[in-house]
Amino acid sequence: MCGIVGTIGEKALRTYLIEGLRSLEYRGYDSAGTSFIDQGKVTTYRLPGRIADLEGLVPKEVTASAGIGHTRWATHGEPNFTNAHPHTSNRGLFTLVHNGVIDNFRILKRKLETQGFTFASDTDTEVIVNLIEFHYLKGLTPLKAIQKTIEELDGSYALAILFKEENERIYFAKLHSPLVIGKGETTHYLASDYLPMLAYAKTFYIVTDYQYGYIEQQDVVVKHLDPQEEKPITFHETELTVDDIGLNGYPHYMLKEIEESPEVVKRIADNYFDDNHFLFDDVLLQKMKEADQLIFLACGTSYHAAMVGRRYFEEIGKTCRVYIASEFAYYPEVKGENPLFIVISQSGETADLIRCVQLIKQRGNPLLTITNTKGSSLDRASDFTLLLYAGMEIAVASTKAYIAQVGLLALLRAALMGNNDILTDFIQVIAGMKNIIDSRDDIETIAQQIMSAPSAFFLGRGLDYDVAVEASLKLKEITYIHSEAFPGGELKHGPIALISKNVPVIAFISDPITAAALRSNLEEVKARGALVYTISNLALAKEDDAFITPNVKVYLSPLLKVIVAQYISYFAALHLNRDIDKPRNLAKSVTVE
Ligand code: G6P
Repeated sequence: MCGIVGTIGEKALRTYLIEGLRSLEYRGYDSAGTSFIDQGKVTTYRLPGRIADLEGLVPKEVTASAGIGHTRWATHGEPNFTNAHPHTSNRGLFTLVHNGVIDNFRILKRKLETQGFTFASDTDTEVIVNLIEFHYLKGLTPLKAIQKTIEELDGSYALAILFKEENERIYFAKLHSPLVIGKGETTHYLASDYLPMLAYAKTFYIVTDYQYGYIEQQDVVVKHLDPQEEKPITFHETELTVDDIGLNGYPHYMLKEIEESPEVVKRIADNYFDDNHFLFDDVLLQKMKEADQLIFLACGTSYHAAMVGRRYFEEIGKTCRVYIASEFAYYPEVKGENPLFIVISQSGETADLIRCVQLIKQRGNPLLTITNTKGSSLDRASDFTLLLYAGMEIAVASTKAYIAQVGLLALLRAALMGNNDILTDFIQVIAGMKNIIDSRDDIETIAQQIMSAPSAFFLGRGLDYDVAVEASLKLKEITYIHSEAFPGGELKHGPIALISKNVPVIAFISDPITAAALRSNLEEVKARGALVYTISNLALAKEDDAFITPNVKVYLSPLLKVIVAQYISYFAALHLNRDIDKPRNLAKSVTVE
């Protein structure tokens, strides 16, 4: 969701901005733009469309001393030329790009209109840039004008700002939307995450909430809205390298990331289990034992991993709740006296979760974040963090992060139970995953059979239902085929009305407790003409099953079944010629509510 880049004095300014934006494409966007400043003149190029279109618009040779760039995921106003960033203030003094949403922009807009300001776009961003100009015209310095402006903003923002009269400086400000500063050999960089800067910067600083300031070639100034909070900043290195973000011969990131699953499970085990000991923080385990309730909060695929987590911990006697974060944020039902919150997020930047975390902080309950992103907003806000070590996930549709989330929850449960045998179970999972990867052509055949259907249905019971829900989301996300998931037993209570001739029904069967019941549900849909594809396992297989996964412990079966589901979506999308890694309308990191 919206990406920002900026740098000063870089010889390859155009390349940094264009390639930087390209590396942020994975966040999801519908418009793109850049502004260059040269001797007091700001030139802006922007359009609805892809980076490739922007590249065609920006002249091959650009002379400029600084530049900013943006990918926009529309929130206020449709994706069109006028709404695309950067935006420039009425008198042309400030030009900026923005990631986030300003909740009170209408009030601020009215206030500015009474002062004679006019607006061309539907965006909240144009209000910010004009508010800065308004304060500046009152006689403040640009930095003070920015401070004054952000004091008035409600919502979220990461900003990169050019000022017409200071050609070798980029101002910035941040609240709830991510922003990172990179330090290279000769200059500084700004970006929404590390990716655009990996080839240029050696060390990084993650800007925190309420900070603002500026970067120059040699200097960085970081202020805080609360001066008591101002302290010297330190730059750190990142483990990410340019190689980590390459396709390594794969046609798509999604395929690469699915096939990294065995390695992801191994890494989780290596990081949290050593020499017959779990490596989790004892204080965390104690708090989890003491908690009268574990409350899981997450969105999208991470929510589906949380559904599995809930079953894991309920099975060992904990009372658990699982909420979609955007619901909990407004209806925060908490019954117990001593809950422990578990927030699950690949990106660590999801706005709905950040809102929940503010509520949890007010309540004062312990908070565990499970995330793939060290230094992310959620990592920093929590009492305990468990990193997923899944490696950078670039495809918008999450695959290996789900594997890491479920794997980590399984390990955490084992640690609470003192079950050291989990390593043996994991070894079986890794072997099972490799076996499925080797048989992916068979799954491609299933995908080709379902890809022309207008609708598909996924069924399962228990953990298989949790997988069905994730399978259905994956199919929607990247193929745009309408799909739904149901617990097998629920079918007769309504959804069976949707089953007719040749409708694909994909069923997951991993649990002996419910295998027979689910198979009888499948008979019911077959009798109505549905095309049934059963994904079972060796222990429960029947002759006509479409795909049979190796046996693993039932509680770990989602780790295998989900790979089959991911492949079905991937291959269907491939044959439908979809933009697999960047599906329409979706964003990888949803930084607005
Ligand atoms: C977006 C992504 C999904 C992801 C969800 C939650 O919708 O497209 O793939 O599952 O956000 O993201 P998080 O980073 O919090 O796991």
